[in-house]
Amino acid sequence: MLELKNICFSVDTPEGRNDIIKDISLTIPDGQLIVLTGPNGGGKTTLAKIIMGLVEPTSGRIIWNGEDVTALGITERAKKGISYGFQQPPRFKGIKVRDLLSIASGKRILPKTEACNYLTQVGLCANDYLDRDVDTSLSGGEVKRIEIATILARRSGLMILDEPEAGIDLWSFSKLTETFSQIHEKRDCTMVIISHQERIISLADEIVVISGGRIGKRGATEDIFPTILADTYGCCPALN
Ligand SMILES: Nc1ncnc2c1ncn2[C@@H]1O[C@H](COP(=O)(O)OP(=O)(O)O)[C@@H](O)[C@H]1O
Ligand SMILES: [Mg+2]
Repeated sequence: MLELKNICFSVDTPEGRNDIIKDISLTIPDGQLIVLTGPNGGGKTTLAKIIMGLVEPTSGRIIWNGEDVTALGITERAKKGISYGFQQPPRFKGIKVRDLLSIASGKRILPKTEACNYLTQVGLCANDYLDRDVDTSLSGGEVKRIEIATILARRSGLMILDEPEAGIDLWSFSKLTETFSQIHEKRDCTMVIISHQERIISLADEIVVISGGRIGKRGATEDIFPTILADTYGCCPALN
């Protein structure tokens, strides 16, 4: 179970103090798929980075499986089964896709069939990609899919994915949602997905809307989703 207790994050700017996350508390039971959604700048990425240990909260605690992990760094959290997929994944010159997958799986040499299995789940063919460098020769969508494949290889207990749909073509996106759905069906992994996509939102057990650094609404997908659409389009005649 993941518990966020009174998480706050503020930064000091030349204009003064900016409260980015304002006292967010959230409990996510094991095996749940939660979608964090809401307007740009609402604080979703910051919250996800706080869970992974990439950003240190100003106050509050993060409890994972009963253990307070607030003081732990990224590597230690990763060892405890927490993994994170960036909104814009980093690139690694000189590292091949097969290396990244091997490191993620913890195996020195990852069998090709296994690598192929992870890549297929994100809509990539192992023959085309295993020996490619994860550098600027890959498109943004390809890097994103490769990163998601490494998260699958890690077999984490908690997967945090930041806008996995961004930059991914429709066919691969459909493959990806199928993969998320299959992972979720097994219920052996908790998933926190930041997304604006209806197809991903419809997989969720619960939607949490984050806006202005706070939890706006939360609840079952069928209750919350219609209200999000109304909030998005309701006041703008051009969007109706
Ligand atoms: N380290 C930082 N310094 C200053 N502003 C930041 C910092 N991190 C995030 N922000 C600001 O906090 C707000 C929330 O950002 P973010 O978490 O990326 O939102 P979202 O992912 O919901 O679009 C944005 O206005 C962003 O510019
Ligand atoms: Mg974001």
